[in-house]
Amino acid sequence: MKTLNEFTEIIKKAGEIFKEGFEKKLQIHSKGIKDLVTDYDIKVEKFLIKEFRKKFANFSIIAEESAKEKFNNSIIIDPIDGTTNFAHHIPHCAISVGIYEKKEPKYAIVYNPILNELYYAKKGEEAYKNGEKIKVSNQNCLQRSLLATGFPYSSAENEDDLKWVINKLKHILPRCQDIRRLGSASLDLCYVAEGKYEGFYEINLKPWDVSAGVLIVKEAGGLISNEFGYEYNFFEDRCIVASNGIIHDEMIEILSKKV
Ligand code: IPD
Ligand code: CA
Ligand code: CA
Repeated sequence: MKTLNEFTEIIKKAGEIFKEGFEKKLQIHSKGIKDLVTDYDIKVEKFLIKEFRKKFANFSIIAEESAKEKFNNSIIIDPIDGTTNFAHHIPHCAISVGIYEKKEPKYAIVYNPILNELYYAKKGEEAYKNGEKIKVSNQNCLQRSLLATGFPYSSAENEDDLKWVINKLKHILPRCQDIRRLGSASLDLCYVAEGKYEGFYEINLKPWDVSAGVLIVKEAGGLISNEFGYEYNFFEDRCIVASNGIIHDEMIEILSKKV
């Protein structure tokens, strides 16, 4: 796993910058009504791009706060996933990096430097957290399943998106054990991968939110699809659904319903 280790080393160094920012009083700016960005989103991203370009010059880079190059052999970066948590000093945020070869996921790393939790996967070689293999849960009953979701920033101005969120909650909440909204999609996916949650769904996520988490879920034995149960494409699909695989059809049945 030489290349995965090389990526991880760089991400761990970026984690030091992340940690330094987490302790500080931050400069917070707005990208939209709800969408925040701090100086540290930029600092962590700049560091990652500089180091990745030195070592992996043949990869293009897609990063939330700056580069949006061609998708083929690509490194897809979210420097801080969970910026709202980061800005409020809530230790549920992570650096997320997905590495794609010919548009296929090859390596995935999600690192929460505050809690020192490192999730990673290599295509075909299972998924790990801090060196230990992780697996999705084997819960087969939706009513006993803990799910997670997120609320899109667009809910501030897009009535359709707000309605979608409320409507789906209305139908899925009574059918499961409970729903969490912890505020970091990459970590939500890792929590499905390690069996803390049985499932996760959200609309309007961007490639950098999920580029790493989707491979980690799959390598941990889980399933990823769009809300209709078809293959999820993070450039085109509105909704991602992740699960332990066993409760997937039931989630799809609820989420795909036009109501
Ligand atoms: C956000 C987080 C959040 C999700 C939002 C994302 P950011 O990413 O993943 O959990 O609900 O939709 O945009 O802005 O913190 O990188
Ligand atoms: Ca994000
Ligand atoms: Ca981000």
